[in-house]
Amino acid sequence: MGIMGRISLISHDIDLTHPHYKHLKSIEDIVGRGSDLTKQLLGFAMGGKYEAKPTDINELIEKCSDMFGRTRKETRIHTIFQKDVCAVEIDQSQIEQVLLNLFVNAWHAMPEGGDIFIHTKNVTLDDEDVMHYGIKPGKYVMVSVTDTGVGMDEETQQHIFEPFFTTKKLGRGTGLGLASAYGIIKNHGGIINVNSKKGEGTTFNFHLPIVEAQVVKSQIDDTEEEILYGTETILIVDDEDMVITVSREMLNNMGYDVFIARGGKEALEIFKKDKNKIALVILDMIMPDLGGSQVYDVLKEIKPDIKVLLSSGYSIDGQASKIMSRDCDGFIQKPFNMIQLSKRIRNILDK
Ligand SMILES: Nc1ncnc2c1ncn2[C@@H]1O[C@H](COP(=O)(O)OP(=O)(O)OP(=O)(O)O)[C@@H](O)[C@H]1O
Ligand SMILES: [Mg+2]
Repeated sequence: MGIMGRISLISHDIDLTHPHYKHLKSIEDIVGRGSDLTKQLLGFAMGGKYEAKPTDINELIEKCSDMFGRTRKETRIHTIFQKDVCAVEIDQSQIEQVLLNLFVNAWHAMPEGGDIFIHTKNVTLDDEDVMHYGIKPGKYVMVSVTDTGVGMDEETQQHIFEPFFTTKKLGRGTGLGLASAYGIIKNHGGIINVNSKKGEGTTFNFHLPIVEAQVVKSQIDDTEEEILYGTETILIVDDEDMVITVSREMLNNMGYDVFIARGGKEALEIFKKDKNKIALVILDMIMPDLGGSQVYDVLKEIKPDIKVLLSSGYSIDGQASKIMSRDCDGFIQKPFNMIQLSKRIRNILDK
């Protein structure tokens, strides 16, 4: 967060023609990869499901495959979508991570290029179907990703979901892609399995339980590359100096007035005094004195319509997920840059 934040601040002050601009972008990229790796590890270790909402899986796949296909022209992606696909309650960034892992693996399995077929289907699983998987019978959406690549023998298939299992050369693969996919799907109450034959391609299927709810359209457009400015007053609550320092400067650069609290107790003191000035609280989840979850409750008691943006590097005990389901305004995962933060803030304050 410290590195990402400072890069964002420097980039804000220089323009594209600056000789160091490309180095900064590249550092940002590398930090992003480090953070992705952490997400992978957390995905398979505990699969923190922090921002689950009813989603149209077809839309998510469309977005994800476009993103993937743009940079890999030798791979053709074909989608065969279920019409009126049922909604699934998912953390979109995690399921995106699962899809990208499957696409990257498929791409690696087809060094000369080839086709990826993605299917979605509404299905009903009965007692017999779910017998060995420890999930409930009922309605699911099935997603399958098929490639025309090298395939796998039986022995390999037995191990692919294990963490650190890889057949790639040292330094090429970490063997966490499928392990994290497995953790994430399992954590969503679903199952993932594989069907493959050496030399004949591979199909991964995963099932996600459906939810009887309206799909929530995402209002945050992550493709926009512009900082959004504002003038309100924001209270940052975090116990780490590094995070406070960069967040404060980012917010000042965006035009906001900033109050700082270095812990839960201090946050409540400041908030009691200045509740009418503060438009938004950016609240860290894990703090030693008083955790984000408790602070959240008291903030809402003091001022029921206060807007809160949760922020966390991870979510060990699903705290964030519980608060989200109680109607919290938003969540941002560290490390974030200025553009991402500015968009989350406007998304909440302009509602
Ligand atoms: N579509 C596929 N076709 C053939 N083999 C595959 C396919 N997907 C996965 N595998 C096999 O499963 C192994 C484990 O995959 P996994 O995604 O977990 O790790 P990885 O791709 O080796 O490394 P990374 O952590 O970078 O994803 C791969 O090394 C490969 O041998
Ligand atoms: Mg992989």
